[in-house]
Amino acid sequence: MHRLGPAALGALLRAARGGPRGSAPFSSSSSSSASSSSSSSSVPPQPAIAAKEPFPVELKAGKTYGWCSCGHSKRQPFCDGSHKKAAPGMSSLRFTPQEDGPAWLCGCKRTQNPPYCDGTHNGEAVQGAPLPPRA
Ligand code: FES
Repeated sequence: MHRLGPAALGALLRAARGGPRGSAPFSSSSSSSASSSSSSSSVPPQPAIAAKEPFPVELKAGKTYGWCSCGHSKRQPFCDGSHKKAAPGMSSLRFTPQEDGPAWLCGCKRTQNPPYCDGTHNGEAVQGAPLPPRA
């Protein structure tokens, strides 16, 4: 199921990959070198891992939610505005479910199907990472 617009997904993927903003991310050059992390001065912040597992929630059809994509919200998995200070350049992902029911929303902020968990949290990149300190 795809419940997100391509713009929202693209923005999140760019943020997750630390890719360039406003410039062509894909070069047609045949002599491409590794596209590892660049040293651009406008690299967006990497989302923090809020949890190493998804959050079970009960969603209401037609209601718009703001999923925390930066990982700093104290109201996980939903946005509380923390990104404004903790992760400038990032924003919540707004989504509106079409059906009532339970859902598993990503807590690691590494899913490729935001805001829903896709199992990425099971990888070593998440399970082996330290969690940020919580107040
Ligand atoms: S909690 Fe992030 S992919 Fe599962």
